[in-house]
Order: sequence, then C-alpha cells, then structure tokens
Amino acid sequence: MGAASPPSAREAWLASPGRALSGDFTVPGDKSISHRAVMFAALADGRSRIDGFLEGEDTRATAAIFARMGVGIEAPSPSCRIVHGVGIDGLRAPGGELDCGNSGTAMRLLAGLLAGQAFDSVLVGDASLSKRPMLRVMAPLRDMGAAVGSDDGERPPLRITGGRSLRGIAFDSPVASAQVKSAVLLAGLYAQGETAVREPRPTRDYTERMLAAFGWPVAFAPGEARLSGGHRLAGRDIEVPGDFSSAAFFIVAASLVPGSDLLLRSVGIDPRRTGLLEALRMMGADIRELDRRDGVCGPVADIAVRHAPLRGIDLPEALVADMIDEFPAFAVAAACASGTTRVTGAGELRVKESDRISAMATGLEALGARVRETADGMLIEGGRLRAGRVDSLGDHRIAMAFAVAAQLAGGEVAIDDVANVATSFPGFGTLARGAGFGLRSG
Ligand code: S3P
Repeated sequence: MGAASPPSAREAWLASPGRALSGDFTVPGDKSISHRAVMFAALADGRSRIDGFLEGEDTRATAAIFARMGVGIEAPSPSCRIVHGVGIDGLRAPGGELDCGNSGTAMRLLAGLLAGQAFDSVLVGDASLSKRPMLRVMAPLRDMGAAVGSDDGERPPLRITGGRSLRGIAFDSPVASAQVKSAVLLAGLYAQGETAVREPRPTRDYTERMLAAFGWPVAFAPGEARLSGGHRLAGRDIEVPGDFSSAAFFIVAASLVPGSDLLLRSVGIDPRRTGLLEALRMMGADIRELDRRDGVCGPVADIAVRHAPLRGIDLPEALVADMIDEFPAFAVAAACASGTTRVTGAGELRVKESDRISAMATGLEALGARVRETADGMLIEGGRLRAGRVDSLGDHRIAMAFAVAAQLAGGEVAIDDVANVATSFPGFGTLARGAGFGLRSG
C-alpha cells in the first residue's frame, strides 16, 4: 500500500505482551543475498537453482525485472527459483519502466549493471524509494562514463542511456555503503580495465563473494574490492541462509521477555551483518551461535537466545555499519534496558526506507520512553514502556521493531501502516504469534 492510501485503509497491527518466547524455527531467506543471487544467475551462462530465496516483495520485484529483460525464471516451489542465465551480454531491452518497488538495493545495484548495457532503461520505485538519495551512485557511475540521469538531479526515477563505453575507476567511497560499492563493481563488469572501490568502513561483501562464486575474478578484503571487465559468470546452485536482519527482531524480543528461550535455525552470521550481536552482548544478552558452518556469503549458524537483563551502553561507532539494518530493533532493546544508551555516527539511518532515527524516537516517545534525537544518532533512557499508538511510516523494520516493543509494554500498542513488512518478512505475524508474541491485525 503506497503513501497515498488514506490512513483508514492502511493495514495495522494491535500488539500486546504475549508469553515467554519459545520454539525452534527458521526465518525467511536473506534479502541482500536473494537479490544478488537472481541478478548474477540471470547474467550467468547456464542454469542456476536458488534455494531459500526470499519470497518478499523486494526480491520478487528484482526477479520480475530480469524476466522483463528476457531471463527465464521458474518458481517450482515457494522459496525456490530456477534461473536460465542469458550470459553477461544477453539481457534484452525491457520496453518500459523497471519497477524496483521499495528496494534501494535493487535500484542502486541495477543502476550499475544497466549502465553497461547496450539499451536504455528507466528505474522507478514506490513513494519511499522515490525520496532516497541516488547521487551517491550516479556520481561514480558518471565518472566511469555512464549516462545516468534523474529528473531532480538526485532522486528516482533514474534514466540510464545505454551503449556507452565504460572505463574502470579507483573510487574512494565517501559513504560506508554496500549498495554504492556494488553499483560501481557491477558497472565494472562492463568496463575497460580495472575498477577498484575503497570504503570508509567495511560493509557486507556479498557482491564480491557471489561474483567470485559465479566464477568472476574479484580481489577483495575488508573495505576494498577490485575487479576487471571481460570475464563470464557460470551458473551454479545457491543456498540462501536465513536473514539475520529478520532474525534480529526475535533475538531482541527473546532477550527482553522474561523466561524466553528460542532457537533460530540457519541464519547468516557474517560479521559485517552481526554488529547487533556484539552490541547486545555488551548489554548483557545471552546469545550463542551453534553448529557454525560455511555458506556462500560467509558463516551460517543456529542462534540460541535466552532472556537476560540488559543494560544501556555507549554504542561503539565501529559497530554501526555492521548493524545498519538493526537499529530499529536495537533502539527497542535500549528503551527496555536499564540505564542510558548513546548512538552516534549513524546518520545513514536518516536515508533508509524511512528516517529511522526520527521514526524510532517518535514511536518510543509515544510509548513513554525518554529519547533525544541527534543529527547522527540518539540518546535513549531505558525504562518501562506503556500502551499507545505508533506509526511505522510504511517502513517494514519500524513496524516489526514496535511489535517487539509491545511485548514489553504496559498494554496494547496500535502499529499503523504495516503492509510493507511483506517487502522483507512475509509471514512475520504468523511466526511471531507462534513464538509467543501478542499480535493481531487491527
Ligand atoms: C544492502 C546494503 C545496506 C542495507 C540494505 C541492504 C545491500 O544499504 O541497509 O538493507 O544489500 O547491499 P546501504 O548500502 O545503503 O548501507
């Protein structure tokens, strides 16, 4: 449901304290890995099978975009895709706009990839994505010789003129962003010479790892990556692990709700994604990683969480990039901990699916928490939350974070505008209720 829907038509939840969380289950597949698996399988020679594919609106939009460009994609069963790759130069002109929905990952990665095609393309998104900054990818892509335009100079739609010859660049990214790094590297697949990216702090290296797994030579280390054009990708099978960002809501809820004891199976625990585990452990959480094994994009493990009293911390800035999607859940942990939590160096949160600093501060205050917003973070006084009404602003992670907060509140919490949870975590409500959450449609 878009931003234009009247409030009454928006999907809402009524959430309230349930029981101690328990169970042993998996969360849906990793969103970042699912996007990339479809993209690289589409550009590979031969067939790829993707198991554990996230059946979310974001990743389905990416699959639909490649189908529009002539890639055969079958869905023999839920969470499985068979992709018949067309080869690195095999995409066809889509004939119309390509809709990335709510997904910044889809739009930014595709901007890089489409910059190297022979045809023109236009990337559009929903109301939230249409407000997000794109100059961060347009500028380096232009340095590579790409023609990428936008009506207002910085936001979607993006208009890409094909048939340009791209050249590799050495790019020092001003922002710690896997999406920016990936956009440049994907344009680099089509560029003359070497493309190198350096980041101010290391971000998830899924593009690098997966390109390598599909057979493209890539040199990478934390904070830097290099590749050259002129190679090919070979189709292969991919097993997508559970999404740590989805598991995060259950990890925080089980830490907070007394008596909880939960096991989350087969979750990706790459260190560039799991800063939240470090932060929660600093707060006193009882979390164990069991049966650790290797996955296509880093380690995978079962995560066991038991309730433990949490105390506030000064969050080290070095952890911010490694938990960039987990702040809504982390802010709830802080609001229910004893003492004060300080977050700094997290200005990127203001340009996510919503301004997540403002959305969390406003919602937590509505539930009685004492929160002070700063330009690049927040100060949260831990305490007891009360019943109230909050607006998720159509942001999936804000909605789920407040469902967690409600488990600790003094009464019922109404959470407005939750339909976007389907972008990353279809079935959250059912899984959460099964684990013990008090949660129903409102
Ligand atoms: C993502 C990178 C991050 C993250 C997003 C997914 C990716 O965005 O917030 O949910 O798949 O590369 P930024 O690169 O903008 O930090």
